[in-house]
Amino acid sequence: MSSQRRPGAHEARAVREHGDPLLSKILAEALAQTGTEARATHGWHSYPAGLHPDAAAVMLDAFDGPVHDPFCGGGTVLVEARLAGRDCSGTDLSPIATLVSHARTAAAEHAVAMRAMSRHLAEAARRRVDVEVPELCVRWYEPHVAQELGRLRDGIKAVEPGPVQDLLRALLSSIIVKSSFRESDTRNTRTPHHRPPGTTAILFHKKARELARLLEAMPPGPAPRIRLADARKVGPPPGTRLVLTSPPYPGVYDYLPMQQLRYAWLEIDPSPLMGGELGSRREFRSKGRTEALQHWREDNARWIATQAQGLSADGWMAIVVGDGLVGDRLVDALQPTVVAMQEAGLQIVARASADRPDHAREALRIEHLVLAHKP
Ligand SMILES: C[S@@+](CC[C@H](N)C(=O)[O-])C[C@H]1O[C@@H](n2cnc3c(N)ncnc32)[C@H](O)[C@@H]1O
Repeated sequence: MSSQRRPGAHEARAVREHGDPLLSKILAEALAQTGTEARATHGWHSYPAGLHPDAAAVMLDAFDGPVHDPFCGGGTVLVEARLAGRDCSGTDLSPIATLVSHARTAAAEHAVAMRAMSRHLAEAARRRVDVEVPELCVRWYEPHVAQELGRLRDGIKAVEPGPVQDLLRALLSSIIVKSSFRESDTRNTRTPHHRPPGTTAILFHKKARELARLLEAMPPGPAPRIRLADARKVGPPPGTRLVLTSPPYPGVYDYLPMQQLRYAWLEIDPSPLMGGELGSRREFRSKGRTEALQHWREDNARWIATQAQGLSADGWMAIVVGDGLVGDRLVDALQPTVVAMQEAGLQIVARASADRPDHAREALRIEHLVLAHKP
């Protein structure tokens, strides 16, 4: 067990084990991790539906060699791999996911340059110079907050493109929802509140100092290779021994559209990517349950086949998969996942399953961690 983890810090859960007794115990330990874990850069930028950092750490302890996460999201697996000094890589279809993953695992030397630059940008953002605010953002911010964000955006655009500019963009991204009237990444309820003038620029600089401090505390090691890519088409790099991931659950989230404020401020056009999102809630709403489920099954089989093909012989694939939700009805994601893994030539060796109460929807959903071996 990694020394950075705090045993007993998380609520114990009843987890059921299936298959190989030793391996299913490891899966059960991973799945039992709950509660907030704020170590390293995990909590620095919000990202929805993150894997528990300790779940990733347990799996990395148990399976060695290069690791790949094809749905890397905010980079939980990559941060843990980086902490463990492991060679790792990741892809995601969301440009915000790759921006955040990069920032959470960046080299300390870039962070130091980013911190120095952020101070200068924050000072400039407090000067009264009128800048353009994206149309879509006007109703989500107090006017002076939108002006500060606009000045930060313009200041970052003037920085030379490269790793430091990328970190500054991630910094801006980290305060976009927090300084808005939007309730959270996953809830777009508008709740107006007051932020005194100047505090948005101060927050930007504070987040820069925080990120630099966290990155400086990370052990030196190989930087993860992170790419904007579709997991159905792009598999792991050669030599990958473990694919560890949590793909979208069918019908639960709209990962790409929920970042609309960030796209507007960061001037990203996500429209060419939208159609590639797996199991999106909007597809279940627009196409209906039967057709959308069929499409999700095909997509699910495709990404599993692509990842299995790229995995080294004698490698492992571990997938966290949970019941989907369409309207009030649960969608079983386990069976199609197991079948797709077998059809991709993998041998299912163990599984753990846990009940997850969904308080918001008054439902009990089941989450599984499935482990397969590539012969
Ligand atoms: C459950 S989240 C992953 C969270 C991640 N495990 C973490 O800890 O932050 C699922 C991710 O899948 C991504 N995604 C959806 N469709 C995709 C596709 N076709 N290829 C790659 N990523 C995709 C979403 O953008 C989202 O970041």
